[in-house]
Amino acid sequence: RLKMSSGSIQLLREFDGFPFNPLLDASWIAEIPDYPISPGDLYIATYPKSGTTWTQQIVSLIQWGGEKDTHISSDIPWLESIGKDSARALSPPRTLKTHLPYDMMPGRDPANSIGKYIYIARNPKDVAVSLYYHAKRYAAFQFTGDWDCFFELFMKGEVSCGLWFHHIFGWWEHKDAKNILFLKYEDLKKDLPASVKTIAQFMGCSLDDAMIDKITKQSTFESMKDDPLANLPLGFPVVSGSTPFIRKGVIGDWKNHFTDEQSTRFDAEYTKRMSGTGLVFDFQ
Ligand code: A3P
Repeated sequence: RLKMSSGSIQLLREFDGFPFNPLLDASWIAEIPDYPISPGDLYIATYPKSGTTWTQQIVSLIQWGGEKDTHISSDIPWLESIGKDSARALSPPRTLKTHLPYDMMPGRDPANSIGKYIYIARNPKDVAVSLYYHAKRYAAFQFTGDWDCFFELFMKGEVSCGLWFHHIFGWWEHKDAKNILFLKYEDLKKDLPASVKTIAQFMGCSLDDAMIDKITKQSTFESMKDDPLANLPLGFPVVSGSTPFIRKGVIGDWKNHFTDEQSTRFDAEYTKRMSGTGLVFDFQ
């Protein structure tokens, strides 16, 4: 395959080793560790493209009792993007989405806070591919380059939210805390009703089978794809002709993008960085 690895991406680089979406406000992000945490606060935390929106849909349906006519981004705002004034105006209990690494969260130590946290992880090869389409979709990244170029950026952590290994490990280390629920995209994909139940139990809600079924039906890929309230709003300028936000929703799309060499290199890196951690993923 012809290698065309030149290209670039625009990032906010104010935080050492942790690049952000360039549209975010660095001064607000620097203040987030001081953002208050109240009893009942719930965070959905992820490395981007790991199933954040999917989990937002499930959590907000649980909160609304299976029926809602509000947008997931107003039900569950993105902490980093709403800015200081809107964040301070939110009254507890708050449900928020975040892509922050563990030690940049409010209070810097979720496991020892009074909040609750659902962390969703996804196999990193599919994350890389999904993030590639994300970088091409959002104009702010000014991404120029092909997949080969993006792969190199991902390996170096030169993408929004930095090195995947770093992000995942920071949260995985605290997965046994009783206020942290660590789930995998692949588990949601393989048994959505069971995942809805697990999430509800963690939130302290007991759902009957009819309600689990109702929420599951509205949280499938097909249902969310056609639901304007379950897609990200149009606030961020999008490159015309790019792929939709709810794009493909499968396990294993990496096989359509990774070359054998890239796959081998990635596997070696995974082994080097993650062996001994006990964290394994389904890659198909
Ligand atoms: P793909 O680009 O692989 O399709 P996030 O919300 O964290 O940005 O993650 C987006 C990814 O989750 C996209 O992956 C999107 O298609 C997928 N996704 C969103 N809703 C989904 C659902 N109900 N079922 C499966 N995948 C879903």
